[in-house]
Amino acid sequence: MEMAQNGFDGRPGLTDTLGRALRDLRISVTDRCNFRCTYCMPKEIFGRDYEFLPRDQVLTFEEICRLARLFVGLGVEKLRITGGEPLVRRGLADLIAMLAAIRRPDGGEVDLTLTTNGSALRALARPLAEAGLRRVTVSLDSLDDEVFGAMNGIEFPVAKVLDGIAAATEAGLAPIKANMVVRRGINESSVVPMAAWAREANVVLRFIEYMDVGHSNGWRLDEVVPADELIETIGAVWPVEPADPNYRGEVADRWRYRDGGGEFGVISSVTQPFCRDCTRARISAEGKLYTCLFAVDGHDARAVLRSGASDEELAAFVQGIWTRRGDRYSELRSAATSTLPKVEMFAMGG
Ligand code: GTP
Ligand code: 5AD
Ligand code: SF4
Ligand code: SF4
Repeated sequence: MEMAQNGFDGRPGLTDTLGRALRDLRISVTDRCNFRCTYCMPKEIFGRDYEFLPRDQVLTFEEICRLARLFVGLGVEKLRITGGEPLVRRGLADLIAMLAAIRRPDGGEVDLTLTTNGSALRALARPLAEAGLRRVTVSLDSLDDEVFGAMNGIEFPVAKVLDGIAAATEAGLAPIKANMVVRRGINESSVVPMAAWAREANVVLRFIEYMDVGHSNGWRLDEVVPADELIETIGAVWPVEPADPNYRGEVADRWRYRDGGGEFGVISSVTQPFCRDCTRARISAEGKLYTCLFAVDGHDARAVLRSGASDEELAAFVQGIWTRRGDRYSELRSAATSTLPKVEMFAMGG
């Protein structure tokens, strides 16, 4: 396929209407999760009667792999497996092994990673690493059992997630990152203890501003703790300085502890949106392609896959969507846009 364009990184690939290349593909392998985090899948709404996707509507491993190979051919350099909770998908290590075999057009390796709640890592970290997974990011909102239990909605104990992180470390899935969604008045007091823990555990902790994704979490702006305030809170305990991004378009802003205690990050999607550099596409568990976390409509890639389309036809489908892309929801976020319909994050793939 012809790819005359270059992204803002100077490397070849598809670009959208704002010059952003397609570099990251986030693949949701299931819409199910064993947690019921209040900011994502509150149990009042996603309780016993909620209907998750039936099996035949979820992409098969072969379909996922075919899409991933095609996206890598179009310039994608990172594949991130998400959910729901990806580790609840049966046989996940088999999918990882299939994805790990994909090479970039220049022969280079693809960054293959996964975002998990960590609850099943003790059992799965080693098989996933052996299958070719490179690293993991674990969601962890507090070290305090009461706070964490209330936020995960099922009173899941912190110790089990910490043990999962230890298992990931033993399996060599480094650098291990931890994502903490900070909510004003809910887990604010966990910020400094989490930072202290991450420094010791050699984990790159990232504080995430609570976002207005989906409809179910009852998001309010006054529950967002701005990244600047978090940096100040941490800086008052340990002196910090900004560090350069690892790559243009990195979601987290990096900060370094001046005493050599490693680094942490802030993801300021509400107070300092980063759409300008957004190179991410998402595939939901049912095979819809989304060009923004806040997109209303996905494009039905599953229908194209199951229609018997050739690789060329599939590539043309993706190309047509990406080259027309102009999404920048977080930069436009306002009273007017906040009432628009949205898709739940676990359904689209965080
Ligand atoms: P690295 O590859 O380690 O740099 O990971 P990452 O930061 O790209 O991925 P991760 O899944 O850890 O993302 C962390 C969080 O940032 C997500 O859970 C979201 O809350 C948020 N996030 C990621 N991508 C986007 C995005 O495109 N838009 C917005 N608004 N938020 C995002
Ligand atoms: N705001 C910010 N981050 C969120 N996540 C889920 N819901 C939200 C939200 N409303 C993130 C969690 C988890 C990842 C899967 O998605 O941090 O790490
Ligand atoms: Fe599950 Fe992750 Fe959503 Fe929590 S944030 S309910 S762990 S998918
Ligand atoms: Fe990308 Fe949409 Fe997030 Fe902006 S709001 S960074 S365009 S996914």
